[in-house]
Amino acid sequence: MQPPSATAEFVQTWPWEGMPATQQPDWHNHTDHHEACTRLASLAPLVTSEEINNLRTSLSTLPGGDALLLQAGDCAESFYESSGPHIAEKLRVLDKVAEHLRDLTSSRVICVGRMGGQFAKPRSRPTERHGDGHIPAFRGHMVNSEIATLSHRQANPRRMLWAYDASERVQRSMRDHRQRQRLRPTVEGPWSSHEALIIDYESRLVRRAIATGEPYLASTHLPWVGDRTRRPDGAHVALLRTVTNPVGCKIGPGATPDEVARLCELLDPRREPGRLILIPRMGRSAIRQVLPPIVRRISSSGHPVVWLSDPMHGNTLLSDKLGLKTRHLTDMITEALMFRDIVEANRQRAAGLHLELAAGDVTECIGSSVESEEDLLRHYTSLCDPRLNLEQAVDLIEAWAKGVVSR
Ligand code: PEP
Ligand code: CO
Repeated sequence: MQPPSATAEFVQTWPWEGMPATQQPDWHNHTDHHEACTRLASLAPLVTSEEINNLRTSLSTLPGGDALLLQAGDCAESFYESSGPHIAEKLRVLDKVAEHLRDLTSSRVICVGRMGGQFAKPRSRPTERHGDGHIPAFRGHMVNSEIATLSHRQANPRRMLWAYDASERVQRSMRDHRQRQRLRPTVEGPWSSHEALIIDYESRLVRRAIATGEPYLASTHLPWVGDRTRRPDGAHVALLRTVTNPVGCKIGPGATPDEVARLCELLDPRREPGRLILIPRMGRSAIRQVLPPIVRRISSSGHPVVWLSDPMHGNTLLSDKLGLKTRHLTDMITEALMFRDIVEANRQRAAGLHLELAAGDVTECIGSSVESEEDLLRHYTSLCDPRLNLEQAVDLIEAWAKGVVSR
């Protein structure tokens, strides 16, 4: 073997390059692909390593302490809602839910928005029916448009730059808001989070911290890997294990104790409290069977994970009459309370909730003032999954808090 030549150019290769990545847009032959990727790599970080370290320090108190974590926001953010008034309204609603949770439980609440980058969606089916034929599914504003025509649904890599610009505006508002709220120590944040799905985008925003040289993901404070992309030998897990941000991992009803234990070793090899947030999203019928052996396994391994319930994604159904995706509040409450019981029965802490929450008075989930399927038509604007409105979110956290109090 030739020794490396002193003049050879140093080429950085990241561990995820060449690894299988599912749910990626088919845009590599697009004429704008190379330029969009190159430009992204030259842009300023959206969040700082200092902010990430602050969040990591806060999250480290969760496994052994009594603070709670609230992560909430749109299923899919919209480019058209990244300006001041929209963001102010989203932050107002997020604050309200976080403050209510604090008041009900007397716990400090660490608040994280699904915002400032939540622009890409994994899909169960690559296409959807349209008229007599099929068109590509909507994959989030970072990839294509929600408008249901063949041309609007083509993946366009230039959208990654638009997603960066929209994220930059949202992150700026969030930073100002954190600054204003810093005298409110009982609710911390709001920090930003999104599913790190599009490898072309996320990998161009991996940067090295000036002080330590360690790689961090500069697109968000708290990236998570979704249930469809969490395979241990895949690019998404490789990317998240490389960066110093705290990371989330969704686990659905197909997960096994072995698989989750392996993910814990990969994503948090140094076993740092607060580094890894496991987010079960099993559905009210599956959680009873699937979650207990997983929690037993992780608990007996001594891995100091944060357990967070996503009571939304396992409870989605298609309404019979209207064909709209919806969720019943009663199913979500049942799953959240079962989650807490299962986690606590294994001497672990149920650290809080991951919710899809809208700023407006939407009618996408059934429960509270949305009494029946027919009511869904009144104000259904989600780009993807059905979100709770404020009243429904308050009902859910009140049920959660009552459970906590009654134990
Ligand atoms: C989501 O959080 O919107 C999502 C797609 O989640 P999951 O990976 O749990 O299906
Ligand atoms: Co969703």
